[in-house]
Formats: sequence, structure tokens, C-alpha cells
Amino acid sequence: MSKIILGNWKMNQGLNDIDQFFQHFSSEISCEYGIAPQSIHLVSCIKNKKEGMLIGAQNCSEYTKGAYTGEISPKSLKELGVDFVLIGHSERRSIFGESNQELNNKTKQALEQGLKVVFCIGESLEQRQKEKTFEVLEQQLEEGLAGLEDFSSLILAYEPVWAIGTGLAATPIQACEVHQFIKGFCVQNFSFKPKVLYGGSVNPSNINELLENIEIDGALVGGASLEADSFSTLCKIASSY
Ligand code: PGA
Repeated sequence: MSKIILGNWKMNQGLNDIDQFFQHFSSEISCEYGIAPQSIHLVSCIKNKKEGMLIGAQNCSEYTKGAYTGEISPKSLKELGVDFVLIGHSERRSIFGESNQELNNKTKQALEQGLKVVFCIGESLEQRQKEKTFEVLEQQLEEGLAGLEDFSSLILAYEPVWAIGTGLAATPIQACEVHQFIKGFCVQNFSFKPKVLYGGSVNPSNINELLENIEIDGALVGGASLEADSFSTLCKIASSY
């Protein structure tokens, strides 16, 4: 089954970086792949994107329209030609205090507007050390996906907080254990078996050992998605599966 590679550019990449990226990005990719730039660069990325490339937003509002200064409507994202939206990234949860309830609202709105949702979950180092990983994930899933009816445009990303931007990726064994748990939990509670991407310090040297596992359906990549060469390499490796 084809793997998926998504790049989360976070608040990086100015217009010049984006030009450079598109100039040097190899288009010979056969896996499902895409990038999520800052919202103000979505139009430019949609104009310049390579064939098959999905373009995503890193966040969206839980409302579609109205007096919500500074918010970005999922409806407007769809109109613009955006394909997917990341919801619940750990930086949104921890820095911006987004609750499971808010993330649930955002997910419902985004799906309703026809966007694909990449719903991110993950435990902190402290939670893992206290052996609370599964408990935390269960709560994030239970509350984050509550009341959803159609799961066909939803994929999950398991991103342990301790692995994000640290250079310390989860081992394939650690990732597989959690992916299996997530899939089992979703089958049992929501009657759907999700695709689950792994995220956290994925790079061209460790992607193979992660992707060779059937439980790992792809990767959500931060730092290693910024340079065209590195992101092309990740996508080419994923294309070989
Ligand atoms: P990283 O970030 O690959 O730089 O660890 C992943 C993410 O935050 O999605």
C-alpha cells in the first residue's frame, strides 16, 4: 500500500525559500505526498506545486464564518484549493492551549468543508516515563474524534512530543507498538481502521527502518521537509514501498 509523506513547514520558509524549494524539488514521486506551509503562503504553493503534490494548512478555525478576527476559515481554505489541514499538532496543543474539545470542533468543520484532516496525537516525555502513553492517546482520540460520522477523509499522525525537533526519533519498535494500539482503539471505538503517520525527527537516514513496517503508513516531517533535496529523498524512498 502506498505510503504518505507530508511536510510540516511550521513558521519557516519565506517566499525566497519557497521559490528555491520548488526549483529544486524532484517531481518523480509516486507516493502520496504534500506540504503544509504558513497560511499566507498557501496561494503561492498552490500555484507552484508539482504534479500530485497535496497542499495543506497547519491549522484552521473551529468556525466557518463571522466575527473571529485573525482566524482562518476551513471553508476559505477549501475555496483556495487546499487539500488537507493539520489539526492538533503538539505545538498547537501546548503553546496555544488548544483543547481536545476545540480540536474536535475544528476537525468536524474541516471535514464538513471537504478538507482531508491529519489529526495529530502524542504523549510528552513525562507522560511516557510515567507509563501514561496509552491513556493519553486514548483521551486525545476519544475526545478529539467524538461524534464524527465519516472517517474517510481522516488520517492520524502519531507524534511523540519528545521526538519532535529533538533528533531523537522513536524506534520502529516504539512507533509500531503505538500505531497498533491506535488502529486497534479506532476499530473498537469508531469502527474505522485509520492510516497512521509517524512524526518526530524523521530524516533520510531513519525513514526506511520506519516505513518498512506495515503499521507505519507514512511520515509527518518537520525539519527534514524544509530543503528540497531532503524532502525529495524522503518522498523517493517512500515511493519504493
Ligand atoms: P520534526 O517535526 O520532524 O522536525 O521533528 C515533526 C513535526 O513537528 O511535525
